[in-house]
Amino acid sequence: MSNNISSNERKSLQGLWSSKVTFILAVTGSAIGLGNIWKFPYIAGANGGGAFVIIYLICIFIIGFPIMVSEILLGRRGRRNPITSMKLLGKEETGNGSWKIVGFIGLFAGFLILSYYSVIAGWTLHYFVLSISGVFNDVNSEEVNFIFNELTGSIKTQAIFHTLFMISTVIIIAKGIKNGLEKTVKVMMPALLIIMLILLIYSVTQGDFTKGVEFLLKPDFSKITSDSILAAMGHAFFTLSLGMGCVVMYGAYLPNRESIVKTTVTIIVCDTLIALLAGLVIFPIVFDNNLAPTQGPGLIFLTLPLAFSDINGGLMFGALFFILLSFAAITSAISLLEPSVAWMIEELKVNRTTAALTIGFLIWSLGFLTILSFNDLSDFTFWKGTLFDNVDYLTSNILLPISGMLFTIFASWFMSKSSSRSELNDISPIAYNIWRFLAGVVAPIGVLIVFFNAINLF
Ligand code: TRP
Repeated sequence: MSNNISSNERKSLQGLWSSKVTFILAVTGSAIGLGNIWKFPYIAGANGGGAFVIIYLICIFIIGFPIMVSEILLGRRGRRNPITSMKLLGKEETGNGSWKIVGFIGLFAGFLILSYYSVIAGWTLHYFVLSISGVFNDVNSEEVNFIFNELTGSIKTQAIFHTLFMISTVIIIAKGIKNGLEKTVKVMMPALLIIMLILLIYSVTQGDFTKGVEFLLKPDFSKITSDSILAAMGHAFFTLSLGMGCVVMYGAYLPNRESIVKTTVTIIVCDTLIALLAGLVIFPIVFDNNLAPTQGPGLIFLTLPLAFSDINGGLMFGALFFILLSFAAITSAISLLEPSVAWMIEELKVNRTTAALTIGFLIWSLGFLTILSFNDLSDFTFWKGTLFDNVDYLTSNILLPISGMLFTIFASWFMSKSSSRSELNDISPIAYNIWRFLAGVVAPIGVLIVFFNAINLF
């Protein structure tokens, strides 16, 4: 061993996951969320479908996979929130604590993401209420459009549900790892999968399945622009929760005996399957109802109510679906909040409840910018569109790739081999070298090429 402190010696201050399974559920819970079910179908729709999906899958496997391994290993070695972990590791490995800036960019991105994430999750809660109250019985496309516009036009309704969602997130975080995070993911994740499969059966039998599959899987590369490649990469970061430090954070709670590479493979496969499944549920319904796949953020809120309106028990299905979608969102939201909360506990020495309330309150306030960008400020547009569009673009397409790239560069170039190898000690030397090559060369170059392409340098 080198003279570095090994993760065996440094203890997490917040506790550890009880087992490998809870860690996998927690990271998968973080990964699977609105990104898979709300965002993926609408950006795939807006970017031409099949070809976008292929580029997205390539990004997942050659960029997402090595970076996720890097982030988990940094977290487990640092055993602190992402900022402090990067400071400690930076000092140990390079004598320079400024690496904490990478953690800081991530946490800042997480702050912004959660502020809008909670608003959209609030929409799903509202749709749950609408479903159980029978509003979607026998509706047609115009009525569904009207209901959606009414929601986005109302500051009050959005504020109520955004508040409810943030409160739930704060409560879970305040309860800590074992009583809060673990208990939540153990129930919600299996339930979500079951409902997705039920919906898939519906869409295979009732929707225009062939057209949906064709749209999702048949590539038409003429539709691909450098901007859609950037969107595919940005979404790969977003859906795997990379670049923000929440994977670093969850890695900090991973017991030493567990294999980082194996758990990563499981997590990535689950996340990708759920995104594709969501596409296979939604597009057949879109085409069957003559809706356009290019609707943007409203896509699932316009298609799913239609799907539920004309089936037996649709009311119940709809309610179940939207509540589960909110839960999928919660298991992601907690991962967006935990790193900043852990930072506040560890650095400012406050207790968990105070930290969760303070940061939760700040993010909740920021959420109003998103609410307003769907109504009063919807005409206030610059750069990429509304305030919401800009926050989304800045975080997914710029901040997450930059900090994700820096995390992986640190893990592969700046960290000594003996340190990274001691975290990845269960894989063969060849597999270890493949990881270093992907993490240190392929992923950073991939990110840079996509960036330069998007700003038209090539
Ligand atoms: N991955 C989640 C989703 O797909 C959202 C999410 C959770 C996230 N934590 C994150 C996105 C960190 C970026 C960074 O819905």
